[in-house]
Amino acid sequence: MRLNDCHNVSDFRRLAQGRLPGPVFHYIDGAADDEVTKARNTAAYESCDLVPNVLAGVQDIDMHTTVMGREIAMPLFLSPTALQRLFHWQGERGVARAAEKFGTWFGISSLATVSIEEIGAAISSPKMFQLYVHKDKSLNRSMIERCKAAKFDAIALTVDTIVGGNRERCLRTGFTSPPRLTPSSALSFAAHPRWTLNYLCREKFSLPNLDTHVAEGSNVAVSVADYFNTMLDQSMDWKMAEAIRDDWGGEFCLKGIMSVEDARRAADIGATAIMVSNHGGRQLDGGRAPFDQLAEIVDAVGDRLDVICDGGIQRGSHVLKALSVGAKACSGGRLYLYALAAGGQAGVERSLSNFEAEIVRDMKLMGASHVGKLTRENLRYR
Ligand code: LAC
Repeated sequence: MRLNDCHNVSDFRRLAQGRLPGPVFHYIDGAADDEVTKARNTAAYESCDLVPNVLAGVQDIDMHTTVMGREIAMPLFLSPTALQRLFHWQGERGVARAAEKFGTWFGISSLATVSIEEIGAAISSPKMFQLYVHKDKSLNRSMIERCKAAKFDAIALTVDTIVGGNRERCLRTGFTSPPRLTPSSALSFAAHPRWTLNYLCREKFSLPNLDTHVAEGSNVAVSVADYFNTMLDQSMDWKMAEAIRDDWGGEFCLKGIMSVEDARRAADIGATAIMVSNHGGRQLDGGRAPFDQLAEIVDAVGDRLDVICDGGIQRGSHVLKALSVGAKACSGGRLYLYALAAGGQAGVERSLSNFEAEIVRDMKLMGASHVGKLTRENLRYR
């Protein structure tokens, strides 16, 4: 199987599985506990159906939308995710360039493997920084200052990782950052020599936005759950979120809002966007899917901030359903991470190109020449 044979997210997933050592693949693919929420994130889109209108004159399709003040060419973007250098040697650099080519948002995590400064200089398309609030307050301040200097367009404050999720696949494989050699992981690294050579021979793995303050994750191998449990500030509350918004002073998104009450509070503290998200089902298993919560959240705050539906997207039709409910845009992680692992920047570009073609085709079939034409009138629940 090659990149050109990848027509959808599950094709990229299969190719990624063949190319990555087991611990790395299962870190991307896995989720919390029984992975019920991860499965529901995608299944939720099947709870309703699109009802098309025809004879609508759809030779020209305009799918641009505006999120946090920046216009993007397609209503789907690449959520910030951690540790991308482990998935492909091009890591965040390749993902950033792919996003720029397709004119859409992209983000790096606090746990990114390239620096804020490098990404700031590399692309002019909109970029967000996913902030994890650490116990070390000087580290939080340093990341915010660096984002200002590098002219990031937005900060997305992660609010759903107050403790680490129970990722049993990672417990079984012993996945750590940086990857640790154990008897079983050694076998899987040896069975993937291309990945292993790229990992060992190219630039050294590091977390340049954190390693000025903490050794864990870059020089000391830890699991992601241990990192969250020991490094992040569990006292984080609304007052702290508001103070971060004030320090930053720019477009501000809360990533991981699921309840109407929290969506209202996000608007009250001046957030300009929320990502309705359960972190890809990687945190609270048994939690509700973003798409299932979308309508009530849009009804409550859709006129006060941008509502982004993050999670489970595998098809253009999923994007159309979320936009019909009232999301400004959709976003996802695995939808481009499998592609990154499968083929670096070229893989991410192919994934975005597949989505772009699906969204345009589906908008034509729906009789919707621009995203404003997608409304709840076009949806029926089963
Ligand atoms: C994760 C974090 C790091 O889900 O975003 O693994």
